[in-house]
Amino acid sequence: MSNSSSMGNDKKNNNPKIILTGDRPTGRLHLGHYVGSLKRRVELQNSGEFDKIFIMIADAQALTDNADNPEKVRQNIIEVALDYLSCGLDPSKTNIFIQSQIPQLTELTFYYMNLVTVSRLQRNPTVKSEIQMRNFEASIPVGFFCYPISQAADITAFKATTVPVGEDQEPMIEQCREIVRKFNSVYGEALVEPEILLPDNKACLRLPGTDGKAKMSKSLGNCIYLSDTPEEVKKKVMSMYTDPNHIQVSDPGQVEGNTVFTYLDAFSSDEDFAEFLPDYKNLDELKDHYRRGGLGDVKVKKFLLNVINKELEPIRARRHEYEKDIPEVYNILKKGTEAAYAVAQDTLNDVKAAMKIDYFNDAELIKVQSEKYSRTE
Ligand code: TRP
Repeated sequence: MSNSSSMGNDKKNNNPKIILTGDRPTGRLHLGHYVGSLKRRVELQNSGEFDKIFIMIADAQALTDNADNPEKVRQNIIEVALDYLSCGLDPSKTNIFIQSQIPQLTELTFYYMNLVTVSRLQRNPTVKSEIQMRNFEASIPVGFFCYPISQAADITAFKATTVPVGEDQEPMIEQCREIVRKFNSVYGEALVEPEILLPDNKACLRLPGTDGKAKMSKSLGNCIYLSDTPEEVKKKVMSMYTDPNHIQVSDPGQVEGNTVFTYLDAFSSDEDFAEFLPDYKNLDELKDHYRRGGLGDVKVKKFLLNVINKELEPIRARRHEYEKDIPEVYNILKKGTEAAYAVAQDTLNDVKAAMKIDYFNDAELIKVQSEKYSRTE
């Protein structure tokens, strides 16, 4: 007994750094996902700073608001997996897995449900706005309502220290931290409190749609997908929203709220100027010219197109390779899922031991009970 608890302490002192994050497979991933999270994940993966990285395809969570459309979720698992792999997530360094295949997550969720109140869930700002968006006000599916709890299970099952997500996920991570604190105070320290890791470039927090609307969204049809062909990207970039008052080339133009410049903020580097638009040293010079007047939208859009294609080229190339061997992609997911299963099972064992519901491993319990019932004639 004392031996195993001191082992636990040693583990804690080593402080392994563990990432967990994921996406709902409800569609192909787009540039908004790329600047908001995927690019960063690849950098984190290659930084060598993390002991373990888990990236989850959250199909079970996707079903909480797509209950009547399971086929959509099923079809998009491979899309998301291809997007991950083509962005440079490397299965030898990053564990990619499918949420629904890890029943331990559901089991943890059920225990955590006792630590969260209905009113606390109702106050979660992300849940609130999603209820509105999905017209769930009149009748909220219970599974959907509880998804922040299941997300806490996802994170804690892997003892994640670091959760790289967009700012819209902040309330989820906060709620997870509350569950961890509550669990640890009621049952003893078994869970790790995670930290959120937000995107670092402000322009990357939220990439607007090509129509200038606040967010890229499939239903608005304003997305540039990672799997778009060069022709599709060209069409989308050349018809992008700019400054509606910038009509003649000679007109002074506005850079703020101008989608093309927001994208350049997110994507372009000084090297891109040297390579594609050497008349300007950097983005500030280009912006100054646009503000003064005399710089046409088409020129700026062509530059942006070059910048985006340069970013997407290696992604497309890797995608083509993986598309040639889809069974291998499923095999990668299977292996990742098997590894994730084992880790989640270890945590579930810790949780059940902390809750003292591991009856059959509890020699002390069996001994005490048998003493209680032993008749001394
Ligand atoms: N909620 C996330 C999304 O909608 C997906 C997700 C599920 C997730 N479980 C997670 C993200 C755990 C981070 C950690 O994209």
